Amino acid sequence: MNDKIVKFSLILFLFIVSSCSNKSPVFGENGMVVSTSRHASQVGIDILQAGGNAIDAAAAVGFALAVTSSSNGNIGGGGFMTAKLANGEVFTLDYREMAPKSANRDMYLDKDGNIIKGKSRSTHFASGVPGSVDGLLKAWRDYGSGVISRDQLMGPAIKLAREGFDLSIYEAERFNKNKERLSKHSETKRIFTRDDREWKKDDIFKQTDLANTLERIAKNGRDGFYKGETAKLIVEEMKSVGSWIDYEDLENYVSKYRQPVKGSFMGYEIISMGPPSSGGLLVVHMLNMLEKIIEGKNSDFDLSFNSVHYIHTLTELERRAYADRTEHMADSDYWDVPNSMFLSHDYAHERLKDINFKKATDSQLVEHGNPYSNQSEETTHYSIIDSEGNAVSVTTTINSGYGNGITVTGAGFLLNNEMDDFSSKPGEPNMFGLLGNEANAIEPKKRPLSSMTPTIVLKDDSPFLILGSPGGSTIITTVMQNILNVIVHDMNIQEAVSSPRVHSQWLPDMVFHEKNGLSPEIIDELKKMGHDVRMRGSIGEANGIMINEKGFWGGPDSRGENTAIGY
Ligand code: GLY
Repeated sequence: MNDKIVKFSLILFLFIVSSCSNKSPVFGENGMVVSTSRHASQVGIDILQAGGNAIDAAAAVGFALAVTSSSNGNIGGGGFMTAKLANGEVFTLDYREMAPKSANRDMYLDKDGNIIKGKSRSTHFASGVPGSVDGLLKAWRDYGSGVISRDQLMGPAIKLAREGFDLSIYEAERFNKNKERLSKHSETKRIFTRDDREWKKDDIFKQTDLANTLERIAKNGRDGFYKGETAKLIVEEMKSVGSWIDYEDLENYVSKYRQPVKGSFMGYEIISMGPPSSGGLLVVHMLNMLEKIIEGKNSDFDLSFNSVHYIHTLTELERRAYADRTEHMADSDYWDVPNSMFLSHDYAHERLKDINFKKATDSQLVEHGNPYSNQSEETTHYSIIDSEGNAVSVTTTINSGYGNGITVTGAGFLLNNEMDDFSSKPGEPNMFGLLGNEANAIEPKKRPLSSMTPTIVLKDDSPFLILGSPGGSTIITTVMQNILNVIVHDMNIQEAVSSPRVHSQWLPDMVFHEKNGLSPEIIDELKKMGHDVRMRGSIGEANGIMINEKGFWGGPDSRGENTAIGY
């Protein structure tokens, strides 16, 4: 490449980086909601202004997203919630989907033991029993203010569904881009596509069946989804494949409070989600490794933002952490996940010993650790804080965009394809390229291993950052980079969530970067060190809040259509 082209691409790169990160965060003194939908963010703020707390707002935003963000926020899926309350209490709630009772480990394999293409992604058998309704109502019941009734909680979502809402250009184009996929199931086609024309900005999108389903939930609570008419519609939908999710599976669904994952990094405390998510443990484990490196680093070791050394170091940590994820992580109700190994500073130190800081390690040579001898991409995230300081971090998903593409006929919501997050066959990657072994094998009623990482960072025991992201396997590395962007690279929350990101995950043995995310020089240097560097689409879509003595600072990720509203 000649010098002029190199210089031009460097200037272009710097311009793009600065235009991404120049934006200021949104400020609020009394509360802040950051989500992927302007309508849903407004619903959250309205609930806060009506006297609700951040948990009420989180539940109301969850139901609103089921209407306004059909590709990811959906009552046909599940999620995780991490909260730090103003009274000091911390909780994490798991409302991940569960495998139906008739699931079995080889259900996605043909008679020769090969994966049946698409069965875990785009058929009725791809869906786990949805958890969102149980989880959102449980959080509201147990930790809501008591001021917001179920009708008030769900009223805005019902109105958005029944009266419709104006599509943004982003949402309209997402429908248009996915038209072929959305046309495969007749009910999905009827609701989400137009025969004669494409969707346009400001088209009013009404969802009458969904409004009726939400009304049944408002009237009957959990039973409005897991029993009665909605349950009947789900079971009827399953009849096209004989049977899959049945009445008993629905009735038996239960969301669970889990032991929060707690760690620390450079004087800050990290609170995040434990199994069946891998996110919290891996973020804490990688930050433990990084802290050790920072403590021992000499002056010619440059860990500045997206420098060669920085990306190389993150890649080496990620390589080791994801190797352990593959071997050791799963639903802890079914598998003895070695939490203490992931949280151990000694193990983090041990794991660093074979890193060469000048040369990439071959992932095939990286083995998972042994806790027993040592003793030791479509999802959505929203963040909320209220005037009392109750902080909530929620990541929710139906797995890939529009889940399995199947809408429950008559009920108006899309179903998840979360079963693909199980390991269908050891050594075969799922849609995120993630491998899984015995730990994450399919079993009846088990929850598939997730990467969702709703996280809260505390400073002096008070919320400092509320963070999370969609992005499948990249969620974990996105959350970690956002924490580092604020704590190590001194960025404001808007810069932190919008800056270019990188990702790696042991296998495939590659370093991914976003378009215009790394300069050609950095890419060349990484290649010289032995990294296989690849460009991909955007990595994650983080929606964060930063809290300081002045108030609340909302950082909506500039990658998507994200909206922060403060008041
Ligand atoms: N479905 C993506 C995840 O849970 O990680």
